[in-house]
Amino acid sequence: MKNVDLLVGAQWGDEGKGKVVDILGSEVDVFVRYQGGANAGHTVVVDGQKVVFHLLPSGMLYPGKLCVLGNGLVLDPEQFLNETSELYARGQDRARLAISPHAHVVMPYHKLLDKLQEEARGKGRKIGTTGRGIGPCYVDKYARSGLRVEDLIDPDVLRERLTYILDEKNQLITKLYNQKPLPFDEIYEPAKKWGEALAPYVADTRELLRRAVDEGQHILLEGAQAALLDIDHGTYPYVTSSSTSASGAFTGTGLAPNDLTRVISVVKAYTTRVGEGPFPTEDFGDDGEKLRQNGGEFGATTGRPRRCGWLDIPGLRYSMELNGANVIALTKLDVLTGMGGIKVCTSYDLDGEKITKWPTDTRKLAELKPNYEILPGWNEDITWCKKFEEMPANAQAYVKYIENALNVPVALIGVGPDRNQTINRGI
Ligand code: IMP
Repeated sequence: MKNVDLLVGAQWGDEGKGKVVDILGSEVDVFVRYQGGANAGHTVVVDGQKVVFHLLPSGMLYPGKLCVLGNGLVLDPEQFLNETSELYARGQDRARLAISPHAHVVMPYHKLLDKLQEEARGKGRKIGTTGRGIGPCYVDKYARSGLRVEDLIDPDVLRERLTYILDEKNQLITKLYNQKPLPFDEIYEPAKKWGEALAPYVADTRELLRRAVDEGQHILLEGAQAALLDIDHGTYPYVTSSSTSASGAFTGTGLAPNDLTRVISVVKAYTTRVGEGPFPTEDFGDDGEKLRQNGGEFGATTGRPRRCGWLDIPGLRYSMELNGANVIALTKLDVLTGMGGIKVCTSYDLDGEKITKWPTDTRKLAELKPNYEILPGWNEDITWCKKFEEMPANAQAYVKYIENALNVPVALIGVGPDRNQTINRGI
């Protein structure tokens, strides 16, 4: 029997996916990251200690399990080495990590170009990227000018490919952006060392996963970012450069769609967004500020304050459809404690018309006026609750409202930051 779970974000990221992975972790045999790169920031709190992963699967906190970095990921070697050495300093075991030779490498010029492109876009056109070189690295992948992990571990191949690739980048850097060219040796020498450091981890991850699936091992595919940041289906151009919705899991690993047994969609009990782009239910007032403070809504990767607002039902319906969500993990419900009335957007007004569907046109998205239903809030502390019935009636009603509106059961509820502050309804 196959046992493959896919975990994806439902909104604009930062739903608390790391915590959900961590909760499921004890039952999982293999953890996989398959898209995005060090733009992600998965925060997990264990025994009161905060651990943030950008690149490594959150499952790295479970000793002895296998963690895979799939081919669809863009791998920042410096970040990788920092995160692994931090973990090894805690006494983690080395044998647990496998990297696809086909994963593309984020090079220093990708990070530089990310910054230069953002500056050139200027105010009003900026994407608000994390500056981690993600977009330029995926551009090179699709332009077939990328360096893959397998290129990095062979110094001759690296020299040969980097020579013409860097030449092209330097044309851009000097002629378009009027910056100094990057000297070959300053890129080549560290890259060669990164290759040496990565080599012991490189494995045929597709085959490894294939065998694991066929043996019935429990695989958890950890999506990064979220559906509304998807390169095809998100709020383009204010998106990230990978397929963040469910379909990305197949290209990003080499597994097949019929390998999947379940899609877990992670929904934050309210909505946040980092970076630019439309956000119909954004709250610019006191409530938005209260959500930011109560929820600690500051970016795990960039430290930027997150934009905060209310749950958006049409947006979430779109996201559930896109991902084929079977169950919801609802996170950060405790942040809504003491908020008074809780707003939920059920439709929008656009050009004098009421619409109940998430529009596909990003420009229209920016013009939407949300219509809210106000649900009664609660003031009681819920962070101690272990059972659904222990929560105040209004908190229970909020969860039921979400289930009914989205027609997807809420199987897990986060009521506090710690691993133990979770209500499990049969996930
Ligand atoms: P990039 O992925 O750095 O190119 O950034 C593109 C957009 O995606 C920006 O709006 C970022 O703020 C957003 N983004 C990228 N990664 C994350 C994440 O892990 N959480 C939330 N937003 C993200």
